[in-house]
Amino acid sequence: MSKTATTPREKSKLVTKTVTPQQANVSLATNASISQDEEADDGLFVDVDSLQSFGVNAADLKKLKAVGICTVKGLKMVTKKKLSKIKGLSDAKVDKIREALLQSCGNGSVFCTALDVAVKRKNCFHIATGSQEVDKLLGGGINSMAITEAFGEFRTGKTQLSHTLAVTTQMPGANNYSGGKVVYIDTENTFRPDRLRPIAQRFNLDEEAVLENVFYARAFTSDEQIGMMDHVAALFYQEPGVFKLLIVDSIMALFRVDYSGRGELADRQQHLAQMMSRLQKISEEYNVAVFITNQMTSDPGATMSFVSDPKKPIGGNIIAHASTTRLSLRKGRGENRVVKIYDSPDMPESEATFAITSGGINDAKD
Ligand code: GTP
Ligand code: MG
Repeated sequence: MSKTATTPREKSKLVTKTVTPQQANVSLATNASISQDEEADDGLFVDVDSLQSFGVNAADLKKLKAVGICTVKGLKMVTKKKLSKIKGLSDAKVDKIREALLQSCGNGSVFCTALDVAVKRKNCFHIATGSQEVDKLLGGGINSMAITEAFGEFRTGKTQLSHTLAVTTQMPGANNYSGGKVVYIDTENTFRPDRLRPIAQRFNLDEEAVLENVFYARAFTSDEQIGMMDHVAALFYQEPGVFKLLIVDSIMALFRVDYSGRGELADRQQHLAQMMSRLQKISEEYNVAVFITNQMTSDPGATMSFVSDPKKPIGGNIIAHASTTRLSLRKGRGENRVVKIYDSPDMPESEATFAITSGGINDAKD
């Protein structure tokens, strides 16, 4: 695929080349083996099995894997309390595992230098959005190892952006980005595989190959949505380096239905925090981009109050703090939409205009 498909920026080349499903699969598999080696080099992606050489027995490691703890980095992210709850792991075994983990990390300091962080962050990549203006706004596109949230009222293009990203993720891009597969979690039943076809056509990609690289799951309850994270982690683990994007469209829809009223708010936020924490960990553990969409409050009484901006994203502080970059979408003229950086660790608060077209998200014409 690296030879045939190109970045959206190199549009002129796109018209002449097409990818076959075979080519796409073969090159993705090759990329996988390269990135696995590279990532293992800097400790990003080491299998928990490596703890065997530090005295943990294989059966215990199997128990970790059964609950989705497959990598050393993933194990580091689990509290002792959670480890103790795993069936078949006694306190002594948990201590043994934690000791082995420390040893495997060289008993080193918890600190590393900013330079070390910079080297590690070189593995981060950006996924193009289909609109060069939006990419510029985001410093190249949707970031890996981070959660990007897009919120806005209905018809502002959140689902269209999700569909476009499901395709653009598959194309190689800037800074040696190799392209990869996508997991799409749909909570509102708005995913349309046929919507991917014209987007694939726009980039001159093989439609069937593009559809084959998007792994879809429909969640019906918020519990199911949280539970799916184990399956996602297992998938990313089984095919290391192959998946590059996890989409959840939308993050709040089911929580909103499953928990109602003030009485259940605390419970809802607790479960939501669990969901967001899983997303954060997955994005860092497997170096993937996480893209979530969110709805806004539509409080009919709000206009009567003295709040200057009664419309805001839902989910409160939990979503606000877990999302690395927050994008606010609003309607513009006709097919145009305006996206504004609402919160970002490294990009200024500015706006860009894009258009929703049959070929997905694109630059606005005027
Ligand atoms: P909710 O999920 O309802 O909150 O909205 P959303 O933000 O997800 O909106 P969505 O992404 O579904 O955007 C819907 C908009 O995209 C509508 O204005 C559609 O007219 C437009 N749209 C969908 N498909 C196409 C298409 O093939 N061509 C064009 N030009 N517009 C499209
Ligand atoms: Mg939608």
